Amino acid sequence: MEIDMCFQCFNTGQSAQEKGPTHVPKCYEVPSSERPSLSSPEAQIPVVDLAGLRMGPTHRLAVIESIGQACKRFGCYHVVNHGIDQSILDKALGAADEFFHLPADEKLKFMSKDVHKPVRYGTSLKDGVDKIQFWRVFLKHYANPLNDWVQSWPENPPAYRGDMGAYSSKVQKLAVELAGATTESLGLGSKYLSEKMEEGMQVITTNCYPPCPQPRLTLGLPPHSDYSCLTILLQSSPGLEVMDMQDGGSWKLVPYISGALLVHIGDHFEVLSNGLYKSVVHRAVLNSQNTRISIASFHSKGLLEKMEPALELVDANHPKAYKGSSFKDFLDFLSANDVGQGKICFLDTLKIK
Ligand code: OGA
Ligand code: NI
Repeated sequence: MEIDMCFQCFNTGQSAQEKGPTHVPKCYEVPSSERPSLSSPEAQIPVVDLAGLRMGPTHRLAVIESIGQACKRFGCYHVVNHGIDQSILDKALGAADEFFHLPADEKLKFMSKDVHKPVRYGTSLKDGVDKIQFWRVFLKHYANPLNDWVQSWPENPPAYRGDMGAYSSKVQKLAVELAGATTESLGLGSKYLSEKMEEGMQVITTNCYPPCPQPRLTLGLPPHSDYSCLTILLQSSPGLEVMDMQDGGSWKLVPYISGALLVHIGDHFEVLSNGLYKSVVHRAVLNSQNTRISIASFHSKGLLEKMEPALELVDANHPKAYKGSSFKDFLDFLSANDVGQGKICFLDTLKIK
């Protein structure tokens, strides 16, 4: 009965979360072994100052070195002096927040369960389809090149296209620069991937995590790694946890640093690096007080372009460890599988045993 009621809320575009219930409905409860403690220690994630990238060879080398270390240690790092003004960050978060405050029928225009759609509003991962539902509302849209996509974004709130567009194009440039630094840190040179990424896919996902009456019972997003090469995340408050593989796979809270952006290594960079860099496993936890907003920008090669391990990193001692795959392959996988239960993930399907 209860589950049917949940499905009904999804059909009307009003998820349980948005109604502000006093209890978490059964279909949002995660198994007890996967529940968050909400007291995870802070992750000691490196903060990389990107000013050095533009300051001449010695400084550049030091920054590249620290990016390489961070990619090996955590698979993620903060960046400061990234070149995106605070006002652009604030306006993007503001536009996202306003969008989620719109009446349900405005948002419903974009509601779809088809993961291949270039603009899509929804809740959870695949609302009403997966066995467990997650406490998240989202809007996803393609963003590169901006002029090809911005017309398909929401017209409301009126500042959405301008403010999110300004952020998107800045973050796209930053991703290309970071891709160059990351391949350089692998000894592949700065052009190895960056040109493909310049013309590649950028998917902006704005996430809204409403306050949750029982935040220990559920999650905003289940443990996952991103399929992308790189993800750049802007958050309004803490709530993201990363799995620390060098500390027994324990969960660590990503500290909130005002003005900083978080860079994730995604599955496709793990593949490119032939496993030298690991895509970071992360999840979103909730709180009972505040709505949390995040904007994740996923960067990869073109929709149909396969990512393969770099030949330069494959030899007799390091055999090719992953098969090639494209963003489209990931979407097909997501469409066909319930990834919310932690039993199956895209990256595992790529590993050559
Ligand atoms: C994602 C994601 C984390 C967050 O959208 O893939 O991991 O903090 N988001 O919202
Ligand atoms: Ni993610």
